[in-house]
Amino acid sequence: MIRKKVIAGNWKMNKTAADGVTLTNDIVEAVGRDPSVDIVLCPPYTALESVGRALEGQSVKLGAQNMHPEKNGAYTGEVSAEMLRALFVTHVILGHSERRLYFGETDAFINKKVLASLANQLKPIFCVGESLAERESGSTLAVVQRQVEGGLLGVTKEQITTVIIAYEPVWAIGTGKVATTEQAQEVHAYIRDLLTKLYGAPLAQKVRILYGGSMKPANAPELLAQKDIDGGLIGGAALEAKSFIELVRAAAAAK
Ligand code: PGA
Repeated sequence: MIRKKVIAGNWKMNKTAADGVTLTNDIVEAVGRDPSVDIVLCPPYTALESVGRALEGQSVKLGAQNMHPEKNGAYTGEVSAEMLRALFVTHVILGHSERRLYFGETDAFINKKVLASLANQLKPIFCVGESLAERESGSTLAVVQRQVEGGLLGVTKEQITTVIIAYEPVWAIGTGKVATTEQAQEVHAYIRDLLTKLYGAPLAQKVRILYGGSMKPANAPELLAQKDIDGGLIGGAALEAKSFIELVRAAAAAK
């Protein structure tokens, strides 16, 4: 079973709409025609429309970094699935550790978003991962299990293969400290085992599980060669065309 690799760029709170279009054009020109990798660009909300226009007719996909689970209403500062769909967004990052840490998002709230995204034909890039304290106390797998089971509650067998999971150890995000390939593969295999228990092996084998946390052109080939690592969710290295393009090429070359 070959899973198509995914390289998703999480721009976080970076890039104006104009800067985002420049970056997008450079990426599309270099790797936009590569059918062997699913490429997703996730700009901030303010750049979604402009980047979406730059992606018109291209196979590179547009993703948002968050959304609110409700359809509409009095939620100042929030954005719904329907609003994202109207901008031709196809993917949405949910449960990123920065949302969990700085904005108090719980497994239950993230679960509502996952269900709302799927109900609106948006593909969630659902993030999980342990903190440094959790890793050091030996609770990595328990934390990841709680997050995976909590976030996927109510996701059906029909829906699970549209979910993309991103394992991002919090201590590796933006720190330059990448997980070793063994550390990453261990957790990825564990997540796939959890999916096997929840959905059965044939479906679990189809779900893409991305690694995130200081993934760079230098460390990507080894990570992407691991059996259960199906791509990357890229922060820092997604902000420049050169490094992002190299990561797409590394994914295309990975067996
Ligand atoms: P990083 O971020 O690549 O800068 O570590 C990854 C992420 O937070 O998605």
